[in-house]
Amino acid sequence: MHILITGGAGFIGSNLVKFHLNQGHKVHVLDDLSTGRKENIQPFLHDPNFHFDEGDVLTWSGLERAVSGADVIYHLAAVVGVFKVLKEPIEVLAINIAGCERLLRAARNSHWQPRIIVASSSEVYGNRPIVDGEHMPLHEELELLITPGINTRWNYSISKLANEAFAISYAKEHDMHVTAIRFFNVCGPGQRGRYGMVVPRFVNQAVNNETITVFGDGSQTRSFMDVRDAVKALFSLANTEESAGEIVNVGSDSEITILDLANLVRKLANSDSVIEHLGYEEVYGEGFDEITYRRPALQKLQKLTGFKSRYALVDTINHLIELSTAVNEIDGDVSLVCSRA
Ligand SMILES: NC(=O)c1ccc[n+]([C@@H]2O[C@H](COP(=O)([O-])OP(=O)(O)OC[C@H]3O[C@@H](n4cnc5c(N)ncnc54)[C@H](O)[C@@H]3O)[C@@H](O)[C@H]2O)c1
Repeated sequence: MHILITGGAGFIGSNLVKFHLNQGHKVHVLDDLSTGRKENIQPFLHDPNFHFDEGDVLTWSGLERAVSGADVIYHLAAVVGVFKVLKEPIEVLAINIAGCERLLRAARNSHWQPRIIVASSSEVYGNRPIVDGEHMPLHEELELLITPGINTRWNYSISKLANEAFAISYAKEHDMHVTAIRFFNVCGPGQRGRYGMVVPRFVNQAVNNETITVFGDGSQTRSFMDVRDAVKALFSLANTEESAGEIVNVGSDSEITILDLANLVRKLANSDSVIEHLGYEEVYGEGFDEITYRRPALQKLQKLTGFKSRYALVDTINHLIELSTAVNEIDGDVSLVCSRA
């Protein structure tokens, strides 16, 4: 089986590479290394089943050829991370929207029938109100919320919503097997804290006995899925006939507040770090809308694939702490690289 992964030198992408090589598949990665890193794919570079091209999904001339040989395509290449999204509001829209369309157009023109997974995000659910203290699970049929105004914070969700619309339109109009998946928070080896991802940031801070910085009062919740589970869920969806033309949540439904997460990481790392709160304005600038909670409904994923997560958050954090003993320091960011074994 031939697999093409755009954004394959990134966090989720490099874990997908590892998963597919272990299955004996041939894997081709296209990545411009903007947030991805060569270190993430270093362990695979001498594998004869692995091929890497450094290029931009918007302009790389080999895209049509790469697409025409693939049985499964994961389109992950995107501008990601809250800090980066706020800093590059135009790139987020331009790259995320046009990159996805170019990939799907190339697949349609190839006359091959690849299974395509397009990465969307739980960000499309927006900032949901908490009703009577209840965190209602977010299911795929809900109306989506984009807060109006001049804030470019929502550009990422707008771009991901456009990706979903392209995925569904190509599936319907050209009878293609395209599935849009809404990732909730995924964490594990290869993820970097520097663009705003909370788990690697807390682990870095805790293992180095630095101050753990919680944004806001820490009552906001997230649901974290181990990337080893995430890659299996993605492949299961690619392998399921009924997932064509569907939008599916991929995540864990076990919720934790960010303050509890900070305390948990501190405890598991046996760390002396103190926990400090930083105001949202201080971190992100004026008018930032923080998401109050995130909890996916997973019935659709389970019905389509029978998928169940294997790893709990404690397993993931312990795994990251273990890996951090063999840490690489890159630009002051601890890199927990995805190893081959
Ligand atoms: N990690 C999460 O929790 C999460 C949550 C929601 C959605 N997602 C989505 O999943 C996908 C993968 O995210 P990730 O967490 O692995 O992030 P990541 O930054 O590690 O991966 C994105 C990859 O895309 C590459 N890239 C960016 N622009 C490109 C371009 N124009 N051409 C080629 N490559 C390009 C980057 O270099 C990087 O390797 C993204 O589409 C992201 O929006 C992730």
